[in-house]
Amino acid sequence: MSKITIAIDGFSSTGKSTVAKQIAKHLGYVYVDSGAMYRAVTYYAMQNGLIGDNDFNKEALIYQLPKINISFKFNESLGFAEVYLNDENIEKQIRTLEVSNFVSQVATVSEVREQLVKQQQKMGQDKGVVMDGRDIGTVVFPNAELKIFMTASAETRAKRRYNELIERDDDVAYKDVLKNVQNRDYIDSNREDSPLIKADDAIEIDNSDLSLDEQFEKVLQLVRMTLEDKE
Ligand code: CDP
Ligand code: CDP
Repeated sequence: MSKITIAIDGFSSTGKSTVAKQIAKHLGYVYVDSGAMYRAVTYYAMQNGLIGDNDFNKEALIYQLPKINISFKFNESLGFAEVYLNDENIEKQIRTLEVSNFVSQVATVSEVREQLVKQQQKMGQDKGVVMDGRDIGTVVFPNAELKIFMTASAETRAKRRYNELIERDDDVAYKDVLKNVQNRDYIDSNREDSPLIKADDAIEIDNSDLSLDEQFEKVLQLVRMTLEDKE
């Protein structure tokens, strides 16, 4: 059976990566978390003093971009690929609220986007890939056979992310998580370069009231229909 490209875009904490991982596993496809790459660049900037309390040295980050090498390595026991920055596993470090609070600002920088989009396109050049992010169906793979756009209310999403952070023992307050989700929604949707918008040919799924199983079944059905159409 010929392979397709599946692009999953949408707002923060809508369940994109959860369903993308499930679908990739089911089909034997590669899953790529493009958000992890923007988070990795942000983590680099924080570790190297390019991000302070209220300032962000954009020029220095652009200058240092060639030094930033991001890769993924499949972890058998987790069942998905973890992200590495210059050979250091930073999967846990990039999920903190501190990184979340700066990542959307870093993601507005065109030079950063250009470097990451090139790498993403290379990872998906042989199809058989499920990639989630903000601009996958619009910029990275405009010809993807299946495009999904996920939404849910900001409160539902913040609650989901809050629960996740608490489970990891991160000391966060719900109101700060909600603020972060709303801020990122705004910056991601209003930036000039590759804003978060639904591609014309994307199928929208509001999963505010869907369980993980229901969401998976819905996406799987769309995948089956797309594969049948292609045969
Ligand atoms: O997991 P969550 O939805 O909270 O975020 P993420 O997918 O890890 O993405 C983190 C941030 O990276 C987003 O809020 C965007 O600012 C940026 N991003 C982007 O600009 N383009 C992408 N393709 C993926 C992420
Ligand atoms: O990748 P994205 O930021 O869009 O979201 P995620 O990391 O897949 O999901 C964020 C959290 O919401 C996870 O803990 C999911 O298990 C949870 N979730 C949920 O409970 N019900 C859904 N329908 C979707 C996600």
